[in-house]
Amino acid sequence: MLTIALSKGRILDDTLPLLAEAGIVPTENPDKSRKLIIPTSQEDVRLLIVRATDVPTYVEHGAADLGVAGKDVLMEYGGQLYEPLDLRIANCKLMTAGKVGAPEPKGRLRVATKFVNVAKRYYAEQGRQVDIIKLYGSMELAPLVGLADKIIDVVDTGNTLRANGLEPQELIATISSRLIVNKASMKMQHDRIQALVEALRAAVDSRHRG
Ligand code: ATP
Ligand code: PRP
Repeated sequence: MLTIALSKGRILDDTLPLLAEAGIVPTENPDKSRKLIIPTSQEDVRLLIVRATDVPTYVEHGAADLGVAGKDVLMEYGGQLYEPLDLRIANCKLMTAGKVGAPEPKGRLRVATKFVNVAKRYYAEQGRQVDIIKLYGSMELAPLVGLADKIIDVVDTGNTLRANGLEPQELIATISSRLIVNKASMKMQHDRIQALVEALRAAVDSRHRG
C-alpha cells in the first residue's frame, strides 16, 4: 500500500488534477467526505486527509509514505524528509509585514507568527534581537492591536495585508508546495515511488510548458 497525506483546501484542489494525470483518482470527493482515509482508483494507493501543518509529521514517522506540503510548513518543521519534486502549486511568499508607514521600533522587535522557528532563524541571521509571539492564525490583527510590531506570514495577492492597513516588507522565501517522501519508504518501495515522482513531474512540466 502507498499512502499519500494531503490537506484539504488549496493543496487538495491543486494536487488532485496532478494525481489524476498520474492515474490516481479518489473514489469519493475528499472535500465532501468526512472520511479521513480515502481509497483511490488504484487499490494499493490511499489518501490521508490531515491538517496542512501535520503533513510532514505523518510522512516523517512513516504513517504516510508521501505527502504534499507548503515549503513554509516544511521550513518550520525541519525534520528528515526527502523533497524530490516542486509541484509549483499554492505559490506565495513568506514575508515580514507591518503597519503602513510605521517607523522601525527602537530596541527589541516583537514579531507575531505561526512560523516561530523560521522567525528565530531569520532574525538570528540578521543578528537582530526579537521577541517572537506564537499565534495560530489571524496574524494580521497583531500589529493593529499592539500585540506585535510585525508579523511573518504568507502573502499572495497582498489583499489580506491591505485590508488591514499592513504592508509587505522583507521577503523571507518564495513558497510553493512540495512532494515529500518518507526516507525508509523511498528505500523499501524505491521503484514504485520513483515511478510516481516521475509521473507527477511529467504532469507538472506539461502544465507549465508553453
Ligand atoms: P491549517 O489549515 O493547518 O491551519 P493552512 O491554513 O496554512 O493550514 P492552507 O491555507 O490550505 O492551510 O495552506 C496550505 C499551503 O498553501 C500553505 O502552507 C502555503 O504554502 C500555501 N498558501 C497559504 N496561503 C496561500 C495563499 N493565500 N495563496 C497561495 N498559497 C497559499
Ligand atoms: C492565507 C494567509 C494570509 C492570506 C494571504 O490565509 O494566512 O492571510 O492567505 O493571501 P493574500 O495575500 O492573497 O491575501 P488563508 O489560507 O486563510 O487565506 P485564503 O484561504 O483566504 O487565501
